[in-house]
Amino acid sequence: MYGKQSYLHLGENIDVDKYIITEFYVESDKSILEVAEALAAESSIGTWTDLSTMDADIMTRLGARIFYANEEEHIVKIAYPLGLFEAENIPQLLSDVAGNVFGMNEIINLRVRDIIFPKAYLRTFDGPAFGISGIRKLLGIPERPLLGTIIKPKVGLDADRHASVAFDAWVGGVQVVKDDENLSNQSFNPFEERVVKTLAMLRKAEDITGEKKMYVPNISAQASDMLKRAEFVKAQGGIAVMMDILTVGFAGVQYIRDQNTGLVLHGHRAMHGAFTHSTKHGIAMLPIAKTARICGIDQLHTGTIIGKMHGGEEEVSAINNAMRCEWGNLKKTMPIASGGVHPGLLQKMIELIGNDVIINLGGGIHGHPDGTKSGAIAASQAVDASIAKIDLNEYAKDHKELQRAIDKWGVYKDESLLVPKNNSLITYTYGLTEGLM
Ligand code: 3PG
Repeated sequence: MYGKQSYLHLGENIDVDKYIITEFYVESDKSILEVAEALAAESSIGTWTDLSTMDADIMTRLGARIFYANEEEHIVKIAYPLGLFEAENIPQLLSDVAGNVFGMNEIINLRVRDIIFPKAYLRTFDGPAFGISGIRKLLGIPERPLLGTIIKPKVGLDADRHASVAFDAWVGGVQVVKDDENLSNQSFNPFEERVVKTLAMLRKAEDITGEKKMYVPNISAQASDMLKRAEFVKAQGGIAVMMDILTVGFAGVQYIRDQNTGLVLHGHRAMHGAFTHSTKHGIAMLPIAKTARICGIDQLHTGTIIGKMHGGEEEVSAINNAMRCEWGNLKKTMPIASGGVHPGLLQKMIELIGNDVIINLGGGIHGHPDGTKSGAIAASQAVDASIAKIDLNEYAKDHKELQRAIDKWGVYKDESLLVPKNNSLITYTYGLTEGLM
């Protein structure tokens, strides 16, 4: 019997080219070192007891190494030898570092705060096919923040009305029109009919405006159906598709990316709150977003800071940095700010998030008092004002669509919204400050 082994290597200098590093927040009745040992064993090679089948070679080659543990901060950092992982296999990665550990009796709360990947691991993935520069090239917009809309109501319109609302938004000035995350192939709006009709309207809008437009149909479904739908979109001349990355799962995302369809992959993060909402438990949005970039998502919902979705400035900025930074062989993922956005928020949002972003307004366009086209014009005017650095209220004086939007929703002015929401325990600095990802 190979006796019970310790995974403790506190203070050890970890070679970041040879290990995947995971940073955990941990709460337990046991001491931090006891629980760290249990975590390291369960997430690498061990179990609750010593084993007749274990040997020193396995332990040395593949055992996880706890190199940092701080009882007061509740932080444990564990390095996993690269040999533990299969190339190009995100489900296997997550089954290791974010798998059984969440169900262990020792755990009161456990949160994966960050995962840091060596370049050798990243190289086994293709990453985004287009990335920020590819998307900007497709749309012919080199610098300006991009504007998008989600057709509303979320579901319920038939294919004709869906296409006609999309047309109004495009001619009003948005570049991107997307389906909502829960619209797929329902009987009231069949996928193929919607794609054909909406792309016909896209071409009409392109002729009228002289601008390139993007339609992003939601292909989320079982993998074989997603592929059929992506191929249909491509055959109809579409340039993008959307997947709900968490509900279809990373295997689904990888499957579609591996087909090299030549389509921009848009990632919606519906269900992320189940993992990300608590500051003490679950999986932070930062490692989820990094994983999406690795899997090849070109444009990803990452938060709005001041919209309707959870996620403050510190968190969203860290995620967006992780999407836009140089990272091994992977192209950059375009952040999407979506959820509760209206024209009166755009100036502040661009100031906080920057220009490399797609800002999506659903209710904030289709809820405009004068309809979708006026809503899209108002949003476009708000972007113009932001680029020209003119106060929105001032600009609205001779831009009536913007004025009507401001009359309904107001202009952002509540600085208290900038206080990170419930995320004071999260620093989001570990990988980034050390120049690692
Ligand atoms: C999304 O897909 O992010 C939401 O549907 C946004 O909708 P909203 O702009 O109306 O909040």
